[in-house]
Amino acid sequence: MSLDWIAAILAEKDLCRMGHGQRTEDQNLGLGWLYYALARIARPEHVVCIGSWRGFVPIVLGRALRDNGQGAKLTFIDPSLADDFWTDSQRTRQWFASFGLDNIEHHQLTTQQFVQSQAYRSLAPVGMLFVDGYHSQEQARFDHEAFAERLTDDAFVLFHDSIRPKSSGIYGEKGRYTHSVHLYMDELRERPDLQLMDFATDSGVTLVRSVQSALSPSLREVR
Ligand SMILES: C[S@@+](CC[C@H](N)C(=O)[O-])C[C@H]1O[C@@H](n2cnc3c(N)ncnc32)[C@H](O)[C@@H]1O
Repeated sequence: MSLDWIAAILAEKDLCRMGHGQRTEDQNLGLGWLYYALARIARPEHVVCIGSWRGFVPIVLGRALRDNGQGAKLTFIDPSLADDFWTDSQRTRQWFASFGLDNIEHHQLTTQQFVQSQAYRSLAPVGMLFVDGYHSQEQARFDHEAFAERLTDDAFVLFHDSIRPKSSGIYGEKGRYTHSVHLYMDELRERPDLQLMDFATDSGVTLVRSVQSALSPSLREVR
């Protein structure tokens, strides 16, 4: 990652939206720093990203994977329900290439459709999952459970728009709904096998990982 690359991202108005705490004034990626850092620290070989307005998260994570230098890939699932931005596969490839990325594979499908696909059946283990699709409690649960069996033991799972209810008109006035991902986070907080941390910056993100993965190797069997 370089300052020029950050400037190129933040020069795109649409990549500064959607609640990740981005700021052009001080060339600040906001929560993007966290996404990038986690992917650099964990060095996942495969990341899955569900839903994105203009690709801020896949772009930042794709860059982290590229900077890790291991040839890791990112699977991006988005049916383009908000508008037609992700409907042309060549334009999508060029968009990611304009940020120096050729490691992102886009599937124009809902998660419900993706789990029926050959791509899902042959999916590599997932070291990081970023959930930012339809923000209902039910869909967040579906997105999480769809990949739960595919996660590596030490996987990081992140849920965006996860800390409070918020009315969203992103699917038009007829499709207006209230985000309820935070209710799914409350369900996960009841699970003794998981550890959660909220980051309340802007629209917020919650980091979820297994308690076992947080323990030092010598303690893992004991607990
Ligand atoms: C625009 S992004 C993130 C939106 C933003 N954070 C908000 O306020 O809602 C949401 C994306 O999720 C995608 N999406 C909606 N339903 C989905 C589903 N069932 N599976 C996968 N992606 C979905 C949409 O196509 C859209 O591009």
